[in-house]
Amino acid sequence: MRDLFGAELRWFQHIEETARRVFGHHGYGEIRTPILEELDVFKRSVGESSDIVNKEMYEFTDKGGRQVVMRPENTAGIVRAAIQHKLLASSDPVLFWCIGPQFRYERMQTGRYRQFWQVDAESLGVATPESEAESLLMLHSFLTELGLKSLVFSINSVGTPESRPAFHAAFRAFFAERADRFCEDCHRRIESNPLRVLDCKNEKCQAALEGHPVITDHLDEASARHHARLKVLLKELGIPFEENPRLVRGLDYYTRTAFEVLSSDLGAQSALLGGGRYDGLVKQLGGPDVPAFGWAIGLDRLAMVLQQIRGEAPYAPPALLIPLGDRAATEALKLARTLWAAGVALQLETRGGALKKAMASANRMGIQTVLILGDGELDNGTVTVKHMVTGEQESWPLEEVVARLADQ
Ligand code: HAM
Repeated sequence: MRDLFGAELRWFQHIEETARRVFGHHGYGEIRTPILEELDVFKRSVGESSDIVNKEMYEFTDKGGRQVVMRPENTAGIVRAAIQHKLLASSDPVLFWCIGPQFRYERMQTGRYRQFWQVDAESLGVATPESEAESLLMLHSFLTELGLKSLVFSINSVGTPESRPAFHAAFRAFFAERADRFCEDCHRRIESNPLRVLDCKNEKCQAALEGHPVITDHLDEASARHHARLKVLLKELGIPFEENPRLVRGLDYYTRTAFEVLSSDLGAQSALLGGGRYDGLVKQLGGPDVPAFGWAIGLDRLAMVLQQIRGEAPYAPPALLIPLGDRAATEALKLARTLWAAGVALQLETRGGALKKAMASANRMGIQTVLILGDGELDNGTVTVKHMVTGEQESWPLEEVVARLADQ
């Protein structure tokens, strides 16, 4: 867990502003759910066979004896909220996005934290491939507006709980023939959740998977049609994608489409985010039988990538007003009040003391415009303005300061 401030936090803020604008244009409304949820919400959604529920949750018993969890992800909470507030009573789609911290007790790795931030977008109530294309188009605009270039949408279909047993049977037979080449974890996975074997990070297991039965060959007809239609739509929209028959994701609730977005903006291609369809989840959590699709992106890595490819986040540092002497200190507070009221970004030097010290601080803070107000300026009704980038200095009439600063 870590503190966020300065240049890194500015990227988080820029990402949030972009999300609010782009998602708002698509008709998504913001939702904020509590950090604590009942344990059951995640057991019944993310799933008992997942690493998240098995090993990574911050869970405890509160003072009222309830078993609670600091949310490891936001989808289950959003679905819980939609059910609780009866938002799914009509057949109208419910479009939500959210931003917030999530908690997983994971092993330390670059860009992975125990408190991390996600932006989520969830579309509840629509089963069509068109709704997925809409959501992916929104995601694509969001990422390209942020400045990411080399994106690939990696997609698969994991079928439905009804069609999956046919694939499981074929896959278990394949596994049995070369069982000795798989790791111990995979031996456990083949019993509890065979799809997870495809996701094993062990290189030997990945090699043993060569020639494995492909889930998209075992789809029911409707799921196969759904998958084909989504591919047509992505092609029509020019969203770069590739099929990945081993993509299964680490959460249990996915049905049909599962996807990740890979970026090579940092060199080696790696997953920036993931999501998919989760048609059974609303019902599983006690709501109506409503389909849904969504995704979540981790901001910690996204901010890191943006910082590396774009440098500093777009940021206009405030001007700095430095008063010299007691009389100017009083007048500077009044002038600053007028400037703030006019919407000018301005920091006020309140320490008193020497100009040299204040100018050195301005340099360190990256301030570009310094206003100096001393007795001489007050007598003339002016302020001295120093442009830090060019070193140029000029004198502005006091009554023009608001207009001139607002103009910059
Ligand atoms: P997830 O794949 O578990 O899916 O997480 C989504 C994203 O959150 C990851 O791709 C990664 O960017 C980020 N993330 C996960 N764990 C960490 C961590 N420890 N540190 C930093 N970033 C992390 C979900 O959470 C699903 N709720 C996605 C979804 C939404 N599916 C449907 N709707």
